[in-house]
Amino acid sequence: MRKKIIAGNWKMNKNATEAVEFINELKAKDLNKEVDVVVCPTFVCLPQAVEAAKGSAVKVGAQNIHWADNGAFTGEISGEMLKNIGVEYVIIGHSERRQYFGETDETVNNRLKAALKYDLKPIVCVGELLEEREAGITNKVLDTQVRGALKDIAANDVANLVVAYEPVWAIGTGKTASSEDANDACKFIRETIKALYNEEVANKVRIQYGGSVKASNANELFNTTDIDGGLVGGASLKLDDFTNIVNY
Ligand code: PGA
Repeated sequence: MRKKIIAGNWKMNKNATEAVEFINELKAKDLNKEVDVVVCPTFVCLPQAVEAAKGSAVKVGAQNIHWADNGAFTGEISGEMLKNIGVEYVIIGHSERRQYFGETDETVNNRLKAALKYDLKPIVCVGELLEEREAGITNKVLDTQVRGALKDIAANDVANLVVAYEPVWAIGTGKTASSEDANDACKFIRETIKALYNEEVANKVRIQYGGSVKASNANELFNTTDIDGGLVGGASLKLDDFTNIVNY
């Protein structure tokens, strides 16, 4: 059985004071113990967020990572730096990074290697655009993204990975994929991993769904065969909504 994982992607929201307050309130809640709970604040909040979450069930993740250890990369943050302050997870290749900041399957792969090098737990995002879904090439897009992200990654690293299936048209739009479509896509990703590695790895890798997850649809989405939790944007910013999703 794969343990569910529900991660809040706060994007460019919440300052450090708000992040700490949220984590303090979240950890005081009666949270579902069957679920790994992660919050991903902005880089500037991470040291205080890690401190606030220490010793609790709430884990902290970053929203990006650079592939180099250090060097002349103005504005970037390395895996070594994230590890040093006690960050546990890192989101890689979110569609907003792909859309607005030139992220490619190749840079996703480089960032994934850096995360693994520093023993961070990666959440690798993939997902199709609306045009791609309408053109009937969702699986082709997912296949390319998954193969690109996992290039030269060892089987045991993939088994411990989290992949987030996030159809771009469902992110921040209020339009959630049906649980059937979302599960089909997650199942397809698992099949792809099985073809690349083996059944054992495919059965271990956790695959989240992301895209307008709410307390009202979490139960249906997470009670499917292949969806192992969610990557939650908007609804993760509100304490009660996020708590209800975790306790789906
Ligand atoms: P959303 O964002 O829940 O606001 O749609 C999800 C995400 O971008 O990870």
